[in-house]
Amino acid sequence: MSQSTELKPPSIEQSSNIPRIKEKKHIKVIEKIYKSNTNSDYTEKLWGLAKNFDYTSNSNHYWGIPELSLLYKTPLYEEASPSQKLALNHLFWVANYHYISVSEISTSMYNMVTAGVFQNLGGYEELCKELELETNQESYHIRSFQKVAYNTKTALLGKTTLGNPLAGKSDKEWLGKLLPKSLQSFFFSGQYKTVFSSYQDYFLSFIAKKMLENKKQYYSQYLRELEQKNQPLAAASEGILGQVAPRHWVRFFTLNWGISPFMACQYYCIRYTANAYLKNHEYRYYKSFQELENRNEFIPAPTAISYYHLLDESFHTTTSQTLAKDMYRELSKPTAYEKFLSRKIIQMMQNNMLSGLSGALPGRFVADSPLFMLFIYKLLKSPVFGMSNQESLYWMEKCFCQEHDGFHVALKYHGKLLEALRRVFNTLEYQSTVNREMTIMAAGGSIGKAITSNIKVFDQFSRSIPDSN
Ligand SMILES: [Fe+2]
Ligand SMILES: [Fe+2]
Repeated sequence: MSQSTELKPPSIEQSSNIPRIKEKKHIKVIEKIYKSNTNSDYTEKLWGLAKNFDYTSNSNHYWGIPELSLLYKTPLYEEASPSQKLALNHLFWVANYHYISVSEISTSMYNMVTAGVFQNLGGYEELCKELELETNQESYHIRSFQKVAYNTKTALLGKTTLGNPLAGKSDKEWLGKLLPKSLQSFFFSGQYKTVFSSYQDYFLSFIAKKMLENKKQYYSQYLRELEQKNQPLAAASEGILGQVAPRHWVRFFTLNWGISPFMACQYYCIRYTANAYLKNHEYRYYKSFQELENRNEFIPAPTAISYYHLLDESFHTTTSQTLAKDMYRELSKPTAYEKFLSRKIIQMMQNNMLSGLSGALPGRFVADSPLFMLFIYKLLKSPVFGMSNQESLYWMEKCFCQEHDGFHVALKYHGKLLEALRRVFNTLEYQSTVNREMTIMAAGGSIGKAITSNIKVFDQFSRSIPDSN
């Protein structure tokens, strides 16, 4: 995305505040981030590696420590051959960065939505420039991840389509063929655009504008332009925001983030969560890069891409943290409506994105869904494992429904992320206790709960698979 956030001068009454704002600590931090980020060359290095990526030259090496592997420490992993283990390590990278790239597509849009609000606040030119720079960097990150992911998937799986393992609708067609009609609603609920949902959009947009009527002078130029062109507001169905809430809610949140300065800062709580979620495992790739470099050994291109991405993202994380934790304190106090909505958004985020553990993908914090099981099923039937239907289901039952060490690895990553999120959310005095202490996420860190949920989902899933083959 290269759409630029055109900077306009603030109004007279806003400009009287500017000298005071310029002295604030959060502005100084942002100025520093912008300067260091502009002078860095991590994006260029990352893009150079992705452009020249060739799977064969990297295929005989682990791209990260073994625990960054799909199905790590499951009974199936223990039986897998060395080449299958390598493939699982590569596919973990692919699965995670596919998820990150679709999340970064949304980030690019929200950077522009919120920059439109900050621009109208006045005194935040450096922040707007930083958000524009970050958006530009994301466009290279997204293309790099997609290129490596596509080449790797094609090399490992041929024409087999695995779809997006973490969320999404790309398997709808495939599932539609496989599943009896009665089960399709179980898989597809809430995906179709109906007359009712258009009405919902209109109603929710009316609420946002009514409740934030006294903030309309901050209305984001990005949203204004969409309105003028009569273009619909995009809302992700995949990635982190697609997971947090259904699309009509995401569109509603977007309007709030694009009108109120407080809510625009509040968006950065979600963005910080995405940054911390990514760093939770990306830091391990970063360490591997350093170790290989110190030993003067071959560094696989995806390991290096992760390394440079972490460095780029460290600027973005500081931006998120500064806006989520500090900048909102300089604005007028949130209204009861803004507080209510902020609490609701973070609670939804905890419920839909952070409330469980995966038996097959350490670092994923929701209960294993039918779509994720479908992904593993297709992987087991792919050329990597070449299993029959029955063999696939036999191993899936062991991996999803019985306790194994993989769940304990997942728990370790869960604990790390919980700690990182609590460090930030604990400081937000306007938040509810549930969100400050991340109690929903904490309760989801339970192997017993994960297995109980998986038994139910797997039972329905396995009954939808035909007996033959
Ligand atoms: Fe990125
Ligand atoms: Fe980023």
